[in-house]
Amino acid sequence: MLAALAARQRRLSPKYFYDEAGSALFDLICDLPEYYPTRTELALLSNHAGEIARHMGPNAEIVEFGAGSLRKIRLLLDAMDQPLRYLPIDISGAHLATSAARLQADYPGLGVVPVVADYTRAFQLPSKVPGGGRRIGFFPGSTLGNLSQAGALRFLKQAARLLRGGALLVGVDLVKAPSTLHAAYNDSRGVTAAFNLNVLERANRELDADFNVSQFAHSAFYNAPLQRIEMHLMSRRAQQVHVCGESFSFAEGETLHTENSHKFTVEGLRALAVQAGFRPGPAWTDPQKLFSLHWLRAPF
Ligand code: AVI
Repeated sequence: MLAALAARQRRLSPKYFYDEAGSALFDLICDLPEYYPTRTELALLSNHAGEIARHMGPNAEIVEFGAGSLRKIRLLLDAMDQPLRYLPIDISGAHLATSAARLQADYPGLGVVPVVADYTRAFQLPSKVPGGGRRIGFFPGSTLGNLSQAGALRFLKQAARLLRGGALLVGVDLVKAPSTLHAAYNDSRGVTAAFNLNVLERANRELDADFNVSQFAHSAFYNAPLQRIEMHLMSRRAQQVHVCGESFSFAEGETLHTENSHKFTVEGLRALAVQAGFRPGPAWTDPQKLFSLHWLRAPF
């Protein structure tokens, strides 16, 4: 937080959105009429679960990057031929334990093995079960788009290594009409604004900061050359803020950049995957070409 406030374009990692309040707001975002990604990806998963399960093969184990929406993983598990293990990876042990226990209760025959790690950094997975099927990575929700371009490539390279001989199923949001993108990040009920502003509330709660939240405005716009939605918090007036005993001034209109949400073309994602060492297989999109799911093979 201190480094972010001292920089010329002040920037904060989007991972700070997800405290308890932020995670609850994100769940609300997923059900907003303007926020098409979640329902479109769920429909793709449900329409193609059988075909995806055939690509996975019998006795496969799923490694989910992020503790995950249990709705999404269940669609896959229900279609799979005797899934062996489920390994959700998340940085928050508490969140992970809750979602792992809920899944374990509903799938008693499945080995549920939570892994507490930051999957954007180097980490190890438990060894594969001898005689088990393929190891399949699952990275839905277009979370890949929240990483920088270099970060996305780094993530995919590590995934290709961890999943050797298996595959990665990744969901990414597609480039589309700016008006559709704009509406998805500027919803009429103001939930996305509250989600963005919550990062300041969080700093007030956890870092002894004194942000006057009503003096910052949510700003989200499509940066077409960089194919991404940018979210910022814009200072409504010149003001001073204190965080951890340090003082920072904001000019009127100055912003704190809180998130990038990159959008992809099907070909662009496949080219990035090839660069990371994957061999792209089928890609599934909805009729309106809003969202895409990609099957990426990880060679031995
Ligand atoms: C989690 N992530 C893929 C969301 C997105 O669309 O980039 C986070 C989000 N930010 C604002 N609305 C949703």
